[in-house]
Amino acid sequence: MNEAIREILLTEEEIKNKVRELSNQIIKDFPDGDVILIGILKGSVIFVADLMRSMNINVTMDFMAVSSYGMSSNTSGIVRILKDLDFDIEDKDVVIVEDIIDTGTTLKYLYEYLKARNPRNLKICCLLDKADRRKADIKADYIGFSIPDEFVVGYGLDYAEKFRNLPYIGILKEEVYKKD
Ligand code: XMP
Ligand code: MG
Repeated sequence: MNEAIREILLTEEEIKNKVRELSNQIIKDFPDGDVILIGILKGSVIFVADLMRSMNINVTMDFMAVSSYGMSSNTSGIVRILKDLDFDIEDKDVVIVEDIIDTGTTLKYLYEYLKARNPRNLKICCLLDKADRRKADIKADYIGFSIPDEFVVGYGLDYAEKFRNLPYIGILKEEVYKKD
């Protein structure tokens, strides 16, 4: 185990099984395929890659990059779009793929932003859900795991851009972020 990790919350095996479950749920909703998965950079990159590979329907991917304004304006729900979609989503079946919902501010904004482009369907798939922290009124259609309010890394999630490569999801030791 990486020395910065206090505890493994979700093992590689648990994540793998859950990804298969989630992809089956999505396929059930869109059996004819032609689904566009929209990964939110960078945290969802590993998740979206695995999710896509376990979907045996026609599926394409696109990415968006967003950043929240400072902490104080976070509550206002303003999110800055750093990279928008490459493709038009009008009349398409679209699934937003996110690593984690915390307050829900990011996803709430993204959902409204993409909804305005009139996709046929707009769903949200989220691997991790810190439900206790929710502020915005938003709920994912496909949820992997409900997790406690701890700072987690691995499987795409980072602390200061590190630990995205861990194959499991772990709780970061407090001394790691206290050091900075
Ligand atoms: P909101 O509050 O908008 O935040 O739902 C979602 C974004 O916050 C980040 N986030 C985390 N990143 N470990 C991380 O690596 C965590 O425990 C964590 N909690 C929130 C993440 O970027 C997510 O997209
Ligand atoms: Mg993120």
